[in-house]
Amino acid sequence: MAPKAIQESSHLASAVPRLVRQRRWWVLLFLLWGIAVWMALATHIADIRSQSIRIATEGARNMFRMVVLTRSWNSSHGGVYVPVTPQTQPNPYLDVKRRDVTTTDGQALTLVNPAYMTRLIAEMAESDSGSIFRLTSLRPVRPQNAPDDWERAALLSFENGNKETVGVTQAGTSGQLRYMAPLQVQQSCMSCHARQGYKVGDIRGGISVSQRYAPIEAATHAGVEQAQLTYGSVFLLVTALGWVLLELLRRRWLDLDDKIFELQHTREELVHSEKMASLGRMVAGFAHEINTPVGVAVGAVSHNEGALDRISKMLSLEEVSEEALQEELTDLRQSSALAMANLRRAANLVQSFKRTSIDQASEHVRAFEMKELISDVLFALQGMLKRLPIAVTVDCPDAMRLDGVPGLIEQLLTNLVMNAVQHAFCDGQRAGNILIRVQREGTNIHLEFVDDGVGMDAGQIARVFEPFYTTRRGQGGSGLGLYICYTIVTARLGGSIECHGQPQAGCRFDVRFPAERVEKVEEAVP
Ligand code: HEC
Repeated sequence: MAPKAIQESSHLASAVPRLVRQRRWWVLLFLLWGIAVWMALATHIADIRSQSIRIATEGARNMFRMVVLTRSWNSSHGGVYVPVTPQTQPNPYLDVKRRDVTTTDGQALTLVNPAYMTRLIAEMAESDSGSIFRLTSLRPVRPQNAPDDWERAALLSFENGNKETVGVTQAGTSGQLRYMAPLQVQQSCMSCHARQGYKVGDIRGGISVSQRYAPIEAATHAGVEQAQLTYGSVFLLVTALGWVLLELLRRRWLDLDDKIFELQHTREELVHSEKMASLGRMVAGFAHEINTPVGVAVGAVSHNEGALDRISKMLSLEEVSEEALQEELTDLRQSSALAMANLRRAANLVQSFKRTSIDQASEHVRAFEMKELISDVLFALQGMLKRLPIAVTVDCPDAMRLDGVPGLIEQLLTNLVMNAVQHAFCDGQRAGNILIRVQREGTNIHLEFVDDGVGMDAGQIARVFEPFYTTRRGQGGSGLGLYICYTIVTARLGGSIECHGQPQAGCRFDVRFPAERVEKVEEAVP
C-alpha cells in the first residue's frame, strides 16, 4: 500500500478530480444524499400523519352532522317528551309551560330540548366509543355549557366566519384530536331561544368532538415504520453501491492517470532525444561540410611551403633566374588565393553553424530576418540537399524582421525539409521541388511549405502530426519530426499547422502564427 500512497502524493496536480481522488469528499456526497433521503422520509411521514388525521377528522365531521340532524328533528318538534327516569330528570333550565306532563294512565313525561338530548346522547357515546362531544356557547344558558380555552378560540373564530376548526391538544397524558363546528340559529330554535335575543342565522354556539389521539397515532405507526424501513434500506443500498462504484472508478482513473503520466514522460524524453539527435545529425553534416574547404586549404598551404622552400633555395644560389622566381611567386599567389577562398568558405560555414546550432539549442530571443533565417537553415542542410535532385525555392520578402526565438522556426523548417526529403522524395530517389513561401497575413505570419513529391492519402494526413506515427518504422523514421513541428507551432508560437495533399500530387503545409506573439516574447525577456 505504501508505494501507492507515494504515487498518489506525486500526483497532486493530476487530472483526476479531487471528488474522485480523495475519499473524504465521498463522505460529504453521501451526507448530502443522506440529508435528501431524510427529508423525503420526513415529508412522507408527515403525509401519512396528515392522511390519518384527515380520516379521523372526516369521522368527527360525520358525527357532528348526525348530532345536528337529531337535534333538528328534536327542535322541529319544539322538544320531545320522554318518560322521566333516574337518568332523565326534568331539565331545570327549560323554562316552558307543560314541561312536565302525566299521561292519562299516570306515566310522568318531561320535555327534552335539543341541548339536553345532545348531552344525554353524548354521555352514551362517551361510554360507548370513547369520543366525546360537547355543546357549548360563548353565552351559555346553563353555566356548565361554558367553553374551555380551545373551544372559546374556535367559537370566536366562527363569529368571524370560520366554518370549522381542527386541532390536536394535550389532555392530561394523552393527546386529543379535536373537531368543532358552529350551530346556527334556525326558525325552529326561536321558540326557546328568541327570548335571549337571537335571530335566525346567528351563531348560537357549537359542538366540539374530541377523539383520543393514541389510536390515530397507532394507525399511522405501521405506515411510518414501513416508510422508515424502505427509506433506510434504499439509503444504505445506494450508499454501498455508490461507494463500490466510486472506488472502482477511482482505481481505474488513478491507474489511467499513472499511465498517462508515464506516457507523457516517455514522450518528452523521446522528443528531447530526437531534438538532440537532429542536432547531432546537423553537427555531423557540418563536420563533413567543413572538411572539404579545410582540406583544400591545408593542401594549398602545404603546396605553398614547397614553393617557399624552392624560392629560398633559388635565392641561396649565386644566379637567380627572374623568370623562374616569377613563376614560383605566381604559383604561390594562386595557391594562397585558393587557401584563402576555402578558408573563407569554412569561416562562413562556421558562422552559419554557430547561428543555427546555438539557436536550435537555446531559447534566446533576438531580432532576426526571416529570409536570412531561411537561408541559414538551407545552408545548414546544404550538405545533404546538394547531393539530391531536389530544388528549393524561397519566396520571402526582404524586409521581414521579427523578434522572437529564431531557433523554434529553424527547427520547424529543418524538420519540414527533412520530412519532405525522407518521405515526399523517398530519401532523394525521386526528383522534385520544394517551395518555401512566407508572407504577412494581417497580424499573422503565413508560412507555406509545398513539395511535389509522392503525397499522402487522407488517412495518412489525418495522422500526420501524431507522435510516433511513421510510415517508415525500421528505416530510421522516429515518427516525431512532424509532431515536434506541431508542438512548436501550437504550443510555442501559438499558431496552427495544417497539412493538405493527395496521393501522387505532393503536399502542402500551412503554418500560421501571430507575428505579435513572436514579437511579444522579447518584452518578457529584457
Ligand atoms: C324546547 C326549547 C329549545 C329549543 C327548541 C332549542 N333549545 Fe337550545 N337550549 C334550550 C335550553 C333550555 C338550553 C339551556 C340548558 C341546556 O343545556 O339544556 C339550551 C341550550 C342550548 C345551547 C347550549 C348553550 C347554552 O346556552 O347553555 C345551544 C348551543 C343551543 N341551545 C342551541 C339551540 C339551537 C341551534 C336550536 C335550534 C336548532 C335550539 N337550541 C333549540 C332550549 C331549546
